[in-house]
Amino acid sequence: MAYIKNTWYAAAWSHEITRDMLARTIANEKIVFYRTESGEVAALEDRCPHRFVPLHLGKLKGDIVECAYHGLCFDASGACTLNPHGDGKIPRAARVKAYKVVEKHSIAWLWLGEAERADESLIADFSVLTDPSFQTVSSYLHVRANYQLISDNLLDLSHGQYIHPMFANAEGPPRFEPEKEPADHEVWAKFSRPNQYPNKYFQMLGYPSDQRGDHRNFMRWSSPSLLLLDVGMTGVGRPVEEGLSIPTSHLLTPETDCTTHYFWAMSRDFRQEDVALSEQLLRVGVAVFDDEDKPVIEAQQRMIDNSELMSLNPVLLQTDGPAVRARRVVEARLQAEQAS
Ligand code: FES
Ligand SMILES: [Fe+2]
Repeated sequence: MAYIKNTWYAAAWSHEITRDMLARTIANEKIVFYRTESGEVAALEDRCPHRFVPLHLGKLKGDIVECAYHGLCFDASGACTLNPHGDGKIPRAARVKAYKVVEKHSIAWLWLGEAERADESLIADFSVLTDPSFQTVSSYLHVRANYQLISDNLLDLSHGQYIHPMFANAEGPPRFEPEKEPADHEVWAKFSRPNQYPNKYFQMLGYPSDQRGDHRNFMRWSSPSLLLLDVGMTGVGRPVEEGLSIPTSHLLTPETDCTTHYFWAMSRDFRQEDVALSEQLLRVGVAVFDDEDKPVIEAQQRMIDNSELMSLNPVLLQTDGPAVRARRVVEARLQAEQAS
């Protein structure tokens, strides 16, 4: 399976990258991450060019990685700095690929493609993750399914009515608003529940159970698979700033063709100091994403085996519009990249 290379992938939460080496496969490329002594993130191909032992099994000495097998050493640029054997000459081929990484919004973003095209301004806006007016809880989930199946799931939130008891409403599935002005690299999937009683989630967050309100779930998708859900509830017909806002980030990074790194976070602009609420939200996130979405998506992957979903001619409903468009954007970018 081909992946867009000239794009930013969420490789890790910043706090995951320390002075201990972290091995992570991204879009089928095996990479080792570590923090240099000055605090920068280094990302190297995790395969020693001598006998192909994973570099993360070796030792980090200062900013240098020493291979576990015969001691070749590599710096953060991927250059071999020491051959402890024979005449000590360093063969020209003794180097590993170094990847460009940028830390922003508490995420380490990885660029798989040509380093000279790695433009930081192209990183999708997830500033809510570090915005001091929000309190954020975050987690990581490993899913045995292709990343686009998870994008599909997040772009069609009508499933909440059936999979997630906490998000279901007595009045049935949410209303879907088709996109009016589709943008190039962004897709919006807007679901709303105007003038309804709060579901269990908003009741938990403190919205009065006997009071009707307008509930919105507006998902923004950025290529190739970075999603931010504007979710909130406010009084009927009232401006959104008056109500509860709990934007939720979903950063999907392909690991292999059938597995995905799923970084998620919930941010809130109310009761920011309430530690018990933070713990409760983490439990809800795990219950919803890990225990309810993940088993269904993994079962879907097992059912279709390694096939590409659209090649099986799935039935399409109106609510599939955003997911289908997102797949087309990815496909067009892939084709453009392969043609250049
Ligand atoms: S395999 Fe790394 S030095 Fe031999
Ligand atoms: Fe879900």
